[in-house]
Amino acid sequence: MSRPVIIAIDGTFASGKGTLAGKLADHYGFDHLDTGRLYRAVAQTVLTRGGDPDDAATATGAARTLDIALLDDPVLKSGPVGAAASRVAMHIPVRQALRDFQRDFATDTARKGAVLDGRDIGTVICPDADVKLYIDAKPEQRAQRRYAELTGYGEDITYESVLTQLRERDHRDSTRAVAPLKPAKDAHLIDTTGLSVDGVFGQAVRLVDAIMSGSRARRKPPGTGMRSTPDS
Ligand code: DC
Repeated sequence: MSRPVIIAIDGTFASGKGTLAGKLADHYGFDHLDTGRLYRAVAQTVLTRGGDPDDAATATGAARTLDIALLDDPVLKSGPVGAAASRVAMHIPVRQALRDFQRDFATDTARKGAVLDGRDIGTVICPDADVKLYIDAKPEQRAQRRYAELTGYGEDITYESVLTQLRERDHRDSTRAVAPLKPAKDAHLIDTTGLSVDGVFGQAVRLVDAIMSGSRARRKPPGTGMRSTPDS
């Protein structure tokens, strides 16, 4: 049995990639995995135990024994857990411990399709994904979105501190030695600056439809009505 269709979405913090991933999954009837939640769950486990996210052994221990039920805990969305997630994500054994879970999710033949969003999906986790998207937006706009989200959860923060933390996070995620945040060579870039959620979704659906109909056409056997060679 062939593996499901895989849509890999990478991008910067608060670029809108998670919202887009959820909407695409709903639209196509695919399953969605927000891989940032895995790193956040590891971070939360370390913090709950009073550990240091920069300590590789502690973070690795938490990743290897991760309780998947934690993935639904609303505390994972908080600012401090996100910052700690970016730190535990720097340790190679932590990434290795989470890799198989992500790949198994993407290739589970019981699914019609899988949408995974994160930082290294198109480059490391699913390098042969059918569609790769890379989502970004200007830091000021991402900080504005994140500020609105965090104050909505009741966090007491300023826009300036969100912007500073966002720049630190971008720097850490994109300069780390292992699986740094970067677009895959064959990723399609979408800049969400100034775009509404529906505007981004519409752009992504047009891209995904075009790519999927192209790959279906390539897979169709000869004699089924598709020309296999162009008119000469
Ligand atoms: O997408 P997010 O903000 O929930 O991710 C939290 C942190 O987890 C992010 O700063 C870096 C790390 N992460 C990662 O290294 N690789 C992924 N595929 C997803 C997240």
